[in-house]
Order: sequence, then structure tokens, then C-alpha cells
Amino acid sequence: MTQQIQFREFEVTDFDDSLLIAREAWPDDTAMLPETFLRSDIGLYFSLATWARVATVSGRVVGVLLGQIHNDLSLLGQIRSIILSMWQVLLISLGAYDQLPRRFTFVRKYLATEIRWARNRPASDAEVTLLMVAAGYRGLGIGKQLMDLFLGTARDKGAQKASVSTEEDSNWRFYEHYGFSRCCDFYDDLDSFIRNRDIRAFYYTFDL
Ligand SMILES: CC(C)(COP(=O)(O)OP(=O)(O)OC[C@H]1O[C@@H](n2cnc3c(N)ncnc32)[C@H](O)[C@@H]1OP(=O)(O)O)[C@@H](O)C(=O)NCCC(=O)NCCS
Repeated sequence: MTQQIQFREFEVTDFDDSLLIAREAWPDDTAMLPETFLRSDIGLYFSLATWARVATVSGRVVGVLLGQIHNDLSLLGQIRSIILSMWQVLLISLGAYDQLPRRFTFVRKYLATEIRWARNRPASDAEVTLLMVAAGYRGLGIGKQLMDLFLGTARDKGAQKASVSTEEDSNWRFYEHYGFSRCCDFYDDLDSFIRNRDIRAFYYTFDL
């Protein structure tokens, strides 16, 4: 199996495979969110990434890591990132995603989460924004190799500290096993709203 795993840059045609992996990784959230919203929200992660690699097996995408290396992010890129996030909030408020549950509460929770993330975000030069491996391919070292590739590039570009945000239902233990340290622990408004129970979010950092 290991010999068949290949790594390459993300291509637009990988998007549908990536969406399938996200559905598998976060089944509760993705089951209750409309397809149009999911496509747009995950699309936002892809468009804001400065580093995007996939792992493939026999041509099929089985793992994805998206990240931002801050040295690669121009002022224009930062402004674009703020505009795209605000655009998403506007689309939700205007009802562009028709089956989104209680959309005004959703917007409030979405903004509260963004604010809490911004308040708790540790200083770092590189951030992992999405990491997922298809269920049938976990435990084969794919996540670790994607992380090695990302952190290696970040280090080469002068980054000294990397960070990642995650939450209690995701596989945060992977980061601890890798050597990341938890620096913040806070309430996640949006995930708590979506899952209808209290969810803690975490930030982790890693010295490069
Ligand atoms: C997190 C995730 C990407 C890990 O991918 P993976 O390819 O299965 O991980 P790897 O096989 O590369 O594991 C690397 C190491 O981490 C360890 N590890 C992985 N999950 C672990 C866990 N829950 N607890 C302890 N160690 C863990 C592995 O045992 C392995 O250890 P080793 O290098 O000493 O052998 C995968 O579990 C996933 O997609 N989960 C769903 C989405 C998610 O939670 N994403 C991350 C949080 S946002």
C-alpha cells in the first residue's frame, strides 16, 4: 500500500473527492448542512490556502492538507481573505443556502466563532487550515507525510512556529502525537450550535 501513495499539488478537479473525504471526516456537521453551503465553505478553505497538497492512491485523492504560510500571503491576499469571509457571511444572511437551519442564529454563531478564533489565535508564521485522510486510508502515515511536507516548506520559507485549530470531536490526538502543544482551549459557538451540545475548540502550536 505504502508504495502506491503519491503526493502532489491540489488541482481544481480534486475538489469533489475532497468534499467526499470531508463528509466522511465530519459526518454530523456535513449531514445537516446543505450541499451548496458545504461546497462554498470548503471552497473558501481552498481559495484561502497558500499551500495545498493531496495524497493519491491509484489516482484517487485520499488525503488533503491545506495551509497558509504567512510569508506567502501578500497584503492583497490578506484583504482578499477578509472580503471572501465577509462575502460568505453576506450570502448566508441573504438566504443563498436555502436549507441552512435558522440562518440568522447560524450567522451569529459563525461570527462569534470567527471572533473567538481571532482572539485565541496564537502568533505563528504558518497555519494548517484543513487536514483530512479518507477513512479507509488512515493509519498508513499519510497525515504525517502531508504534515512533514507542509512544515518542511514552511521552515524553508523562514517560518519558526506553526499552528492549527481543531475541536474535541476531531482527531486532535494526531497533533499531540506529532509534537504539537495545546495552547488554547475555548468554547466553539458554531460547532456547538450545529451539533446541539457544548463543543470545545483548541489551538495547537509547533516550533519549527
Ligand atoms: C488526523 C488524520 C488526518 C490523521 O491521518 P492518518 O493518515 O491516519 O495519520 P498517520 O497514519 O499519518 O499517523 C501518524 C502518527 O499519528 C498517530 N496517531 C494518529 N491518530 C492518533 C490518535 N488518535 N491518537 C494517538 N496517535 C495517533 C499514528 O499512530 C501515527 O503514529 P506513528 O507515526 O508513531 O506510527 C485522520 O485521522 C483524519 O483525517 N481524521 C478525521 C479528520 C480530522 O480529525 N482531522 C484533523 C483535525 S482537524
